[in-house]
Amino acid sequence: MALKLQVNTERLVRELEHLASYSDTPPPAITRILFTKPDLEARAYLKELFQEAGLKVREDPLGNLFARWEGHAPELPAVGTGSHIDAIPYAGMYDGTVGVLGGLEAIRALQQAGFKPHRSIELLVFTAEEPTRFGIGCLGSRALSGALSPEALRALKDSEGNSLEEVRQKAGYTGPLEEVRLPENHYAAFVELHIEQGPVLEQEGVPLGVVTAIAAPASLRVVLEGEGGHAGTVLMPDRKDALCAAAEIILGVEAFARGSGSINTVATTGFCEVHPNAINSVPSRVRLEIDVRDVEQSRRDQVVRNILQGVEQVCTRRNIRYSVEIINMDPPAKSASEVLRALVEACGEASVRFKLMVSRAYHDALFMARIAPTAMLFIPCRGGISHRPDEYASPEDIARGVQVLALTLAKLSQA
Ligand code: GLV
Ligand code: MN
Ligand code: MN
Ligand code: MN
Repeated sequence: MALKLQVNTERLVRELEHLASYSDTPPPAITRILFTKPDLEARAYLKELFQEAGLKVREDPLGNLFARWEGHAPELPAVGTGSHIDAIPYAGMYDGTVGVLGGLEAIRALQQAGFKPHRSIELLVFTAEEPTRFGIGCLGSRALSGALSPEALRALKDSEGNSLEEVRQKAGYTGPLEEVRLPENHYAAFVELHIEQGPVLEQEGVPLGVVTAIAAPASLRVVLEGEGGHAGTVLMPDRKDALCAAAEIILGVEAFARGSGSINTVATTGFCEVHPNAINSVPSRVRLEIDVRDVEQSRRDQVVRNILQGVEQVCTRRNIRYSVEIINMDPPAKSASEVLRALVEACGEASVRFKLMVSRAYHDALFMARIAPTAMLFIPCRGGISHRPDEYASPEDIARGVQVLALTLAKLSQA
């Protein structure tokens, strides 16, 4: 099978730039939060592009979007690809979007080359890979894989108290959530193209990463309740300052990760909400959200245990009431050998050097791996920077990734 593929890099970059225009913050900062106006407009734009490419579009009741290129054998499990388009506050324009529009370009390149898939090829846009609105990442892929039940979805509320139920129905997604979970064997294989979001490929001068595993993420929510009061009149011995307790906990999070014995452990307190957040008022309540990851699940779990113990110690000593919620504690995912093989062969056909590597960021592939043989393909990003407005991937690197993705999808669709 000697496929002559022509990736239309100019069109792809134009579409990425257009997609970036759907944002709640001025460029180059992208903010696109689940079911807000920019998210809904971006979805409408994508559906148009998918239809123009002759793909059959379907959306599930949670807003996961599927665009299917029917194969000769539509009854066989399909080959999936895709990623997400939601963006955390003040993000860049490549995280997720490269896997969506790159997936579309891969399909168009195959169509243009006269390729006809045997298994159908299905492009996915997952709902809310980012945890911004409902506090948990990979909402769509968790639900598709059955890792998050309809009951658990119905219990979710955003920080303004809106339930996921209300929010999705307002956005036009009204069907029963019971229909979201995919039937067994829906996909024969799944492969996600994504920017690396780290510095390894650029530093080593390697144009592609073939991902063999995804690190295990966990996240915790800690609510601390002390006692508020006037900053001038409550004397220091009488204080129960929730923010001072939070400060100790945050430093503990850092220390536990640093002390794990491995460079692969990371922990971040990326969210801190203070009440009432006024200079002349003693903080009475603080909400923290803590993210812990490691390629080794047992080491990650030990750090989580240390953090829980640390919270208890700090709060007992400072006389602060607290509650801890474990939002998620997911195992790592291992890539499937047959998808890895297809990726490696595709790199060979395209004469592109690659590196086998681990993903330290999580992706929808983490959950797709539970229901289909899965792997990922990384392209370099400048300085390893991501989740920032200055995130950048070059058109050449994106095009190379798309070409190898297309060759991989072709192989998997014939298998
Ligand atoms: C998701 O984007 C993550 O890896 O944090
Ligand atoms: Mn992200
Ligand atoms: Mn992403
Ligand atoms: Mn991610």
